[in-house]
Amino acid sequence: MNAIAIDGPAASGKSTVGFKVGRSLDFLFFDTGVMYRAVAWAILDKGISSADSEVVGRVAGALPISVNAPSRGESDGRQATIRIGELDVTWSIRSRQVDSIVSVVAANGKVRQELSRKQRLIGLEHGSGAGGKSGIVMAGRDIGTVVLPEAPLKIYLEAPLEERSRRRFRELSERGKAANFTDVQEDMLLRDKIDSERAVAPLRPAPGAHRIQTQGKTVQEVVGRILALAEEVLGVGPVSTGDEDVPFEGSPGNH
Ligand code: DC
Repeated sequence: MNAIAIDGPAASGKSTVGFKVGRSLDFLFFDTGVMYRAVAWAILDKGISSADSEVVGRVAGALPISVNAPSRGESDGRQATIRIGELDVTWSIRSRQVDSIVSVVAANGKVRQELSRKQRLIGLEHGSGAGGKSGIVMAGRDIGTVVLPEAPLKIYLEAPLEERSRRRFRELSERGKAANFTDVQEDMLLRDKIDSERAVAPLRPAPGAHRIQTQGKTVQEVVGRILALAEEVLGVGPVSTGDEDVPFEGSPGNH
């Protein structure tokens, strides 16, 4: 199976690295967090409280979320286009309001059941090579443990809280979303806590996952390490060469 699971806490580099690994190998890159964000956005939009777990679960089951590669006209730095029905929510799911409730939404067992089932189907379809599909890189919190535990290559990215908060702070500033560093760090700490202490599918390294510390490394160094593992474990090599190297800062998906 050509599948790479990348898990880790917020701003550990999953989407920056995963996107580049996917492009190098010509594998689909799928950031599963966008689905939890879409549900969080929808309940804000409908004025539903994130604490109303039954209603939130029902919304997740019925929401027509689609995730597609950006079309030509959508060259604003996005990694994927996220829609709810016809509505493009790619950037609105990155708001601070969504940030502040998404961990609670992602701790809801019914929401997880609905979304991880859909994610698993996508993972199996692309990972199995059916219909000419080449493979998949999936990023999230529970890909290696729950969504696709049979992925032959599992990665767990980590970086200290301080460093991840700095990355997120820089991203927000670059997008003109002025933020206070202490607030960003507190938000991050709270999300880490909810994501790793929830009862269902908590954030943790899967058995056999390769743990990679991203602090002090460039994006290309981490990508290179994962590509070397992909060659070793999956027997696949890059179909395109890497681009200019950069430090871990704003990821294309986190505008
Ligand atoms: O990676 P992100 O920040 O976009 O994720 C948003 C939220 O969704 C975060 O609270 C963790 C959660 N999530 C999850 O629980 N399981 C996943 N596979 C992906 C994301």
